[in-house]
Amino acid sequence: MAFFSSATKSIPIGTDMPQHIAVIMDGNGRWARKRFLPRVAGHKRGMDAVLELVKACVDHNIAYLTLFAFSSENWRRPADEVSFLMSLFIQGLKREVAKLHENNIKLVLIGDRTRFNAELIDQIELSERLTANNTGLTLSIAANYGGRWDILQAVNKMHRAMPSHAGDFDEEHLAAHLAMHYAPEPDLFIRTGGEKRISNFMLWQLAYTELYFTDTLWPDFDESAFNLALASYQNRERRFGRTSEQVSDVASNN
Ligand code: FPP
Repeated sequence: MAFFSSATKSIPIGTDMPQHIAVIMDGNGRWARKRFLPRVAGHKRGMDAVLELVKACVDHNIAYLTLFAFSSENWRRPADEVSFLMSLFIQGLKREVAKLHENNIKLVLIGDRTRFNAELIDQIELSERLTANNTGLTLSIAANYGGRWDILQAVNKMHRAMPSHAGDFDEEHLAAHLAMHYAPEPDLFIRTGGEKRISNFMLWQLAYTELYFTDTLWPDFDESAFNLALASYQNRERRFGRTSEQVSDVASNN
């Protein structure tokens, strides 16, 4: 009988700084409504909050930041909001990519890009190519992404790559085919905007992630709000299935 083999390999000792942070940026629409502005004004301010968080992550030497920018379900929004978001992504990439590159940031888009228009696809490819060899923060933007889509595409890829293993796949085989196979699992998940849901984001990788929910609306999520999330993370005890006593033994032996 095969022993259980978990794909969760990198069990950190202590919880000082998260290596990988994944964020659901929620509350742009409500931020705008509170100010009697159109929803899109919230998305525009949301973009500023993205840039502020990226800078804070660089300052804190965080290795991976993953942002949920557009879910597979967001196509259901009114057509003019969807098209505003698409042009915000294009303009944002055009405007910011040189600065990302200067700061040694590597940009990767995860998600099914086949549904995007040609201009956006070109801009994404250009930005990924330009920053491909950077070694600082890896900034992954999840767009037209869904956790179930990701697991399914990984299963299909894995099956095509290793047909003779069918019926005998393990977690590590599957993890290697996920869209974010290049990153460790998130240590900290942040959702702004008050909802306490994962909303089909990184379903596989969030298994042992510390979850942090805040009522702060995304455009208001500034550096001090981020520091509160980090402080909450630093107060958690990450056990990965072990007992509390085992965790303190490991920590005190290091
Ligand atoms: C959720 O708020 C936000 C979005 C669906 C879009 C997020 C996009 C940005 C923050 C700007 C661009 C970002 C990148 C990385 C290119 P909501 O509209 O659901 O707010 P609500 O719940 O208050 O209605």
